[in-house]
Amino acid sequence: MKLANKVAIITGAASGMGKCAALLFAQEGAKIAAADVSEGALKDTVDQIAASGGQAIAIRADVAKAADVERMVNEAVTKFGKLDIIYNNAGIEGESAFLANMTEEQFDRVIAINLRGVWLGMKYALPHMMRQRSGSIINTASIAALVGLKGSTAYAAAKAGVIAMTRVAAAEYGRYNIRVNAICPGAIETPMAQRIRAGAAPNPAAIKRISLLERMAQPEEIARVALFLASDDASFATGAPFIIDGGWTVP
Ligand SMILES: NC(=O)c1ccc[n+]([C@@H]2O[C@H](COP(=O)([O-])OP(=O)(O)OC[C@H]3O[C@@H](n4cnc5c(N)ncnc54)[C@H](O)[C@@H]3O)[C@@H](O)[C@H]2O)c1
Repeated sequence: MKLANKVAIITGAASGMGKCAALLFAQEGAKIAAADVSEGALKDTVDQIAASGGQAIAIRADVAKAADVERMVNEAVTKFGKLDIIYNNAGIEGESAFLANMTEEQFDRVIAINLRGVWLGMKYALPHMMRQRSGSIINTASIAALVGLKGSTAYAAAKAGVIAMTRVAAAEYGRYNIRVNAICPGAIETPMAQRIRAGAAPNPAAIKRISLLERMAQPEEIARVALFLASDDASFATGAPFIIDGGWTVP
């Protein structure tokens, strides 16, 4: 097992890639602190882990709120005694609007969750990892940080900010044997992607434009990359944005 005796916090663990990673990390031996704003669905993640013999707790936390994130980290450490991994995955798509039409409220909400939330996760996890002189932090960015997606001003800015913060954190905390990496997923078939399509089926022509593999990815395909980064398999990987996009960014 790749994560035997490890303790991992995963945010956004009630749905999509976060849920998938929670199940996979647990299967690989990690004790999971699963955090989300969506309590009902979060319970399902934790129940599934328990049903397959793993250990997990559910923590209701809004990653945009410092007090929630501090409590999330404290609850995980109190329950499991330490913290080895934090996967700052929670995020929202926000409303699609061209830059000049986006409201301040729309902009601020996306930044609060997708950028500030990742910073808060790192801020409160780092002291525990520094004390034990090891840790792996995984932050969810997006291909939206790298290409110009119409209607995504705040989302793109937040995700580009996540890549930048990942590099800074890797530089500042490498000497504590803490690795910090980002994942930039392309088009992944999750509830978020379904909401963006307003429930419609994937459009094959659109998918061909955004993936050389001519398909979207399943959330497991990102969860396995997160597992790699969380584990000792990635022992020399730090400060890097891992682009997992089916070739979207190949010119
Ligand atoms: N699906 C894609 O194609 C895609 C592509 C690139 C990046 N991403 C990013 O991947 C991450 C996961 O996305 P997903 O597709 O699995 O989405 P999802 O909507 O299926 O899951 C996101 C989870 O985050 C939770 N969440 C939202 N706001 C929160 C908050 N303030 N505090 C705590 N939890 C909160 C939601 O309740 C949900 O359970 C997000 O950061 C997203 O921006 C998704």
